[in-house]
This record gives sequence, C-alpha cells and structure tokens, in this order.
Amino acid sequence: MTIPASSNVALAARDLKHLWHPCTQMHDHESVPMVPIVRGEGAWLIDADGRRYLDGISSWWTNLFGHANPRIAAALAAQATTLEHVIFAGFTHKPAIELAEELVRITPPGLDRVFYADNGSAAIEVALKMSFHYWLNQGHGEKTRFIALSGSYHGETLGALSVSDVALYRKTYAPLLLTPFLAPSPDAYLGEPGESPEQTAMRRLGEMRALLESHTHETCAVIVEPLVQCAGGMRMYHPSYLTGLRALCDEFAVHFIADEIAVGFGRTGTLFACGQANVTPDFMCLSKGLTGGFLPLSAVLTTTEIYEAFYAEYGAGKAFLHSHSYTGNPLACRVALETLAIFRDEPVLERNRQLAAHLARRLEPFRDHPNVADVRQAGMIAAIELIADKARRRPFPVAERRGLRVYLHGLQHGVLLRPLGDVVYFMPPYVVSEAEIDLLVDVAIAGIERAVAN
Ligand SMILES: Cc1ncc(COP(=O)(O)O)c(C=O)c1O
Repeated sequence: MTIPASSNVALAARDLKHLWHPCTQMHDHESVPMVPIVRGEGAWLIDADGRRYLDGISSWWTNLFGHANPRIAAALAAQATTLEHVIFAGFTHKPAIELAEELVRITPPGLDRVFYADNGSAAIEVALKMSFHYWLNQGHGEKTRFIALSGSYHGETLGALSVSDVALYRKTYAPLLLTPFLAPSPDAYLGEPGESPEQTAMRRLGEMRALLESHTHETCAVIVEPLVQCAGGMRMYHPSYLTGLRALCDEFAVHFIADEIAVGFGRTGTLFACGQANVTPDFMCLSKGLTGGFLPLSAVLTTTEIYEAFYAEYGAGKAFLHSHSYTGNPLACRVALETLAIFRDEPVLERNRQLAAHLARRLEPFRDHPNVADVRQAGMIAAIELIADKARRRPFPVAERRGLRVYLHGLQHGVLLRPLGDVVYFMPPYVVSEAEIDLLVDVAIAGIERAVAN
C-alpha cells in the first residue's frame, strides 16, 4: 500500500527528519504521534488525514476568535498587499499608530506609551531592561535586581527565564541567569488549611513587604503574572494581592511589572486581569491574544513618567536601546487592530461569562473525585489538579507522566488538551460553544479516569 505524500504518516516522517520542536523531548515521538495540521476552523484543528481536534488550549493560549478567523484573515490579506514591513526607526505607519492609540485607550489609565516587540519573552526583556534603565537614568545604578514570585513563568529567553521559577525550564540554564529575589506566591492552592484565598494573599503581601524592606535599595521591579500563574500550573490567587502589591511598590519605590501575556484580552473575565484589582502597573506586557493568535507581536505599555526619564539630548546617552528587525511589523499590527475591533463590535466578555459559567457547572462535580486535589477557575481558564493521595496531598511521581496519558487520550478522542504536569486545564478559544465545552470536559474526565488508574 502506498502512503499519500500529504498524509499524517508521510508529513510526520518528513518533520521528524529535520525539525526540532519546542518544549519537547524529541525522543518522545518514538511513541507519541506528531500531528500534522493542515487547516483550522473555529475552535477546531484538522489534520492531514481529515481528523478533527477541538483546540482546548487555544494553541498555547494565543487564539481568541477561532482558527483562520475570516475577518482577521481578510485584514491580514489587505495589509499584505499594501505594506508588509518597514524599518521602525525613523519611520512609522498607520497600523502601528492606530494600535498604540487603541492599546492606550483600553489598558488601565496612566499607561500612555507603547513599545513593540515580537513575542512574549521579548516583551519581558524590554520591561526588565526599561525598568533597570529608568533607575540608572535617575541616578540609581545600584538597582540591578528583580523580585519574582515562586512558581512564576515569564518566558525562556535568558532575562525572562531569570525571573521565572518553573524548574523544568530554569534548572538546566541556571548558571547563565540573573538571580532574582523570590517572594512566595499568593497561590490559593498553597494556602494554610482554613485560610481563604484573600487571607493567603494578605499573608503573602506581608512576606513581600519583608523582602522589600531588606532589598528595596537594590531592586528595580517586582514582576508578576496577574491572577493566574499559567505555565506554573494554572495557579490562581485573589485580586487583593495586586492591590496590595501596587501599594507596596509605591511605598518602596520599585516598579510593578504586570505580565498579562497569557491572561490579557479577556481570559480571566475582564479585559485585563489588573482590572479586577483596579491597578495600573508601571509596565504591562501583552502578547499572545493581542493578534487573536495569528502572528507574533508583543507590546510593553508604560507611563509618561518613565518615558520622560529617557527623553534627553542625544549626547546624554539616555535613550532606551532594544531593537528587533521586525519591531512594529505592519501585518501583525493590522491583525491586532482587527482583533481589538472584534472586542468592540461583539459582546465578547459577556459571552465569555456565560461560557465560563457553563464550564464551572460542568467541572463542579469533579471536586469530590478521589484523585482531584483542586478544581479552580478564573473566567475562561479552568484547571483540575490531579493527586495520588488526596488525604496526604501526595502528588503522583513526576516520572509517571499521568498528564501525558490525558494528552494521548485527548488526541485519540479528537480533543487537544496539554496538561501541565498533573494539571489538566482548559483555555479554549472564545468561539467555542457550550456543546464543545461539554466535549472538552467529557474527554478530559474520561482521560483522567484512565490516567489515574494505575
Ligand atoms: C505569562 C507569560 N509570560 C511570557 C510568556 C512568553 O511568551 P512567548 O512564548 O511568546 O515568548 C508566556 C508564554 O507562555 C507566558 O505565559
């Protein structure tokens, strides 16, 4: 029998001959299938053999309004035949200008400056460098350190990885990295018995205060993922932590960097997670959903006060230096504008509230499952944390890779789930229907039952 050249088997074989994939031990593909996707449609991905997969994780949390969304695709096509790219130093263009205006309009008040980069990690590099450089320009070159939260993830370039605390990504490269001060995460799952999420947040703010009291003189900024520490296992915390952190950063004169790369654009129920605490950070990093999942683009928003610390005669040497060839790419900016126009034209957040309520109703019964330690949700992000022994809070041994079993079960049943360790989570595109949410949950639960049974 001859295998068609565009079949799953043929494409996977060609891929594995030359490609090296991210976040992958390539050896796994001796037993885990490589899935060649040829088309996307709404919340679905379609492989070369015509099999369909419901994208339960928005393709690494990027997609908002469906794969190959016709409205965004048309905007991209029109831009591609008008202006594909232009150097962004000394030159500008309408998509970049209009996108900056729109971002300033929709983000918390006081964020009036926009600096573009290409992806989430690059946005973090920009924010870290800008914070350090601000203090240097203010005569505080002694401020060279950052404070991050335990369990945080901010990307995998060296600066972003430096302020991340997920051992899987960080441990190997630790000798190359900056060493931040780590403050304990306000993660509600790690709260003391009987403590409410808000009480956990308050206690953790006390620990942050102690850290700032000792290190404020050498600290540039505190960096956090507002409300949900995503790659660290969809760990969630109370918004009062952000309010308290804003006050502490003001009191101790350090910057507040909000990494909304994963949680921005409606994922947690509000347009930005910071909105739930009514705080304006000094830097807000955006990417992923910014282009609806179409193209890599990121933006760092900051205040006029910070911008002005760099604004001086050329000879003063105060200019911010961080240059990527594709900064402010017109295609990506145009696609981002169309994505934001959908938020304006359609009741996206209201619809998400209904979908999130449906998801919550469907997950509620599994709280009592003997191998479920926690069910948690923030808007359109929900997670089920698996556990070997609930009474003793003993996790499964990492080497057993229970989450991988859920992933494989999902693939067999037409659902893309990609657990983070033993945390099975849902972060679907906003175009998902209630029936599709039912499918996601049903397949996940069946997968969990299989995964936890020896
Ligand atoms: C909170 C957060 N920050 C930064 C990043 C890095 O973004 P990118 O993968 O585009 O470099 C991610 C990626 O998952 C993220 O979740």
